[in-house]
Amino acid sequence: MRTQVGIIGAGPAGLILAQLLHQQGIDSVILERKSRDNIEGTVKAGILEQTTIDILREIGVGDRMDREGHFHNGNYFQFNGQRRRIDLKKYSGGKQVVVYPQHEVIIDLVNARYKNGKDIIFDVEDVTLHDIDTNQPKIRYRKNGMDEELICDFIAGCDGYHGPSRKAIPDSIRKEHLHMYKDGWLGILSDSAPAADELVYANHSSGFALLSTRTPILQRHYLQVDANDDIVNWSDDRIWTELNQRTKTYDGWQIPDGPINSKGIIQMRSFICETMQYGRLFIAGDAAHTVPPTGAKGLNLAATDVKVMSRGLAEFYQTGSNDILNRYSEICLRRVWKAERFSSFMTKLLHSNPNYDSFERGIQLADLDYYTSYEAGLRTIAENYVGLPIEWEKTEGLQLTTK
Ligand code: APR
Ligand code: PHB
Repeated sequence: MRTQVGIIGAGPAGLILAQLLHQQGIDSVILERKSRDNIEGTVKAGILEQTTIDILREIGVGDRMDREGHFHNGNYFQFNGQRRRIDLKKYSGGKQVVVYPQHEVIIDLVNARYKNGKDIIFDVEDVTLHDIDTNQPKIRYRKNGMDEELICDFIAGCDGYHGPSRKAIPDSIRKEHLHMYKDGWLGILSDSAPAADELVYANHSSGFALLSTRTPILQRHYLQVDANDDIVNWSDDRIWTELNQRTKTYDGWQIPDGPINSKGIIQMRSFICETMQYGRLFIAGDAAHTVPPTGAKGLNLAATDVKVMSRGLAEFYQTGSNDILNRYSEICLRRVWKAERFSSFMTKLLHSNPNYDSFERGIQLADLDYYTSYEAGLRTIAENYVGLPIEWEKTEGLQLTTK
C-alpha cells in the first residue's frame, strides 16, 4: 500500500492531522493499535483552549463542541479559604476555553474521517518504521495475522508517549528531558451537581484539588495524592471528605456530592524530546512531549504541533519548498517549552509540598496572591491558559538546548 503521509496513532494528534491534510488534498493512512471502541471510550482530560477551538472549527469538526461544550470565560484560584476569579476573557483579549472531553473530540474526528470516505486501520500490531532518512520511508505492521507494508512520502509519529516513532530517531541526535513528580492526581467521575460555574483550582496545605465538570449531572474532580498511592486506600467517603476539606471557603460553601462511578490515580510527568524530526519522520503530541495536567495543555499541544506539520506538508506539496518542514521542530519546541513552563509553574504554584519550610510556603502564598490580584499576574495566567500563538518566524539566536 502507498500513501503520501503515513500516520501512526489515532489520538487527537493523528486524527486532527489527517483532517488538516485532507483539507489540503493530501492523502494519508492512519494505523492505530487499539480498537475504535477503545479510543472512543477512554476518559481523559477535558479542556480545549482557544487555539484548539479555532483548529477544530477550521477543520469542520467544531459543530458538536459548539452545541454541547461548556464555554468558560474564567476560572477560580483558591487559597487560604478565599476563592478568586481570573477573568480569562478579559485578560487575554477576548479568548475562551471550552469543557469538551477528549473522547468526544475523538468521536467527532473519527466520524469526520469516515465522512471524507477515508478509513482508519484499527487493531494493528508490531508497528515498525524503516528508511526514515530516505525519500521513501516505510511502516511495517501486522493486521489479522498478515505482515503489511505502507510506503509513504512522510511519516507522522502521533503514537503517544509509549509508541515506537520517537525511538526511531537515532539516540545520537535525540535529547530527552524528563522530570517526574512525586505527586499524582486521583481523578473521579461523579453523578452530582456542578461544584461551580467555572473550574476551581484549589491550593490547600493538605494538597491541591481541582473541581471540573463534564455535564450538568456528571462532574470530574481531582485530588493531589502520592504518585505511588493505591486507589484501594481511597474510599468514596475519604475522597469527598478530602475534596471538601481542600475546597471549603470561609463562607461555609460545601461541594455537592453524589455517587462516584469511576476513580483512578494518574502519574505526573514533564517530558520533552528534542528534536521532533528526523529525515522524513515528524513526531507530534505525546510522542514528543508530555505535561502535568495542571495547565490543561496535553491535547492542546498535540493540536498545534500537527497544525505546524500540516502547513509544512502543504507547502511542500504545493511549492516543493521544505522551509517550514525544516523548521518544524524549532517552531513547535519554541511553543512547547513555554507550555511546559506554564504547566510546571501551575503545578508548583498550586500543589502543596510537605518539604517546604515556612519561608517557601510564604512565597507560594504571596505568588498566589500576586497572580490572582495584580493585572500583570492575571494577564500571565490568562494568556497562557487560553493558549499562546504559534510563532512561525525564524529564530536566529534563540537558544534551544540542543543547539
Ligand atoms: N501502533 C499504532 N498506534 C499506536 C502505537 C503503535 N505501536 N502506540 C500507540 N499508539 C496509539 C495509541 O493507541 C493512541 O490511540 O497512538 C495514539 C496516541 O494517542 P494519545 O496518547 O492520545 O496522544 P496524542 O494524540 O499525542 O494526544 C495527546 O491526548 O492522551 C492524551 O494526555 C494526552 O492530552 C494528551 C493528548
Ligand atoms: C479535566 O476536566 O479533566 C481537567 C480540567 C483542567 C485541568 C486538567 C483536567 O487542568
